[in-house]
Amino acid sequence: MFYAILTLFPGAVRPYLDESILGIAQRQGKLAVQLVDWRGYTRDRHRTVDDRPFGGGPGMVLKPDPIFDAVEDLERRHGAFHKVLLCPRGRRFDQRKARELSKVEQLLLLCGRYEGFDERIRQGMTWDEISLGDFVLAGGELAALCVVEAAVRLIPGVLGCAESPELESFEGELLDYPQYTRPREFRGMVVPDVLVSGDHGAVARWREEQSRQLTEIRRRLHEADGCAHPAPAVDETSPGTEPTVRDPDTPP
Ligand SMILES: C[S@@+](CC[C@H](N)C(=O)[O-])C[C@H]1O[C@@H](n2cnc3c(N)ncnc32)[C@H](O)[C@@H]1O
Repeated sequence: MFYAILTLFPGAVRPYLDESILGIAQRQGKLAVQLVDWRGYTRDRHRTVDDRPFGGGPGMVLKPDPIFDAVEDLERRHGAFHKVLLCPRGRRFDQRKARELSKVEQLLLLCGRYEGFDERIRQGMTWDEISLGDFVLAGGELAALCVVEAAVRLIPGVLGCAESPELESFEGELLDYPQYTRPREFRGMVVPDVLVSGDHGAVARWREEQSRQLTEIRRRLHEADGCAHPAPAVDETSPGTEPTVRDPDTPP
């Protein structure tokens, strides 16, 4: 896979790309990432990438010309990309989208800054607009890294077979079940007996039941929040044998 990340802050992005799973994928030759600072495509001596908004208002808007030049140059040299625009108004990112993007050979991710993009960047090119969630970041770099990591770890062979993504939350209908490792007892908190019973059937049943409970609790939390689009995440840091998210109908 070949990814191009367009960012005004490549130095903020590179260190993360070179660590852990993403670093391994690059060293294995499964992934190549080019960071493109589109300031290099400006034509004025101040290398201007932003300007004041027409109609007034606060902040600075990203100019279209250097971004068009950068994208067109990349496509001339490498062929067409699936182009992702990171922005709060995009479709919320999820595991389904990550799986879809993991099959894309050439992905371009455009990270905004300041007040965001001149609207003609959207009008003049076809984008897959992706939001990380209903909050506003200062720039698209963290969002791009989240998209890249979620997609790359689903590329076949990137994760070791011991870390199969098929069993994880959002891959099926159920959230992942609670996990434990050694020590068996830690600060008075004990690993559930069933997990050390050696009874594989009982372990599987316990895990499925835990997954069901967590999924149901999370579903109700989302309903209570009025969320139409559940994007659950389990608090993996909470200890104990009980589901680690709180049931909204149960007092704390
Ligand atoms: C300060 S934000 C611009 C916010 C924009 N004025 C608005 O209100 O929608 C600057 C850049 O950060 C990125 N960004 C901010 N929040 C994001 C989110 N939730 N998902 C993806 N990208 C985001 C986008 O690339 C955006 O262009």
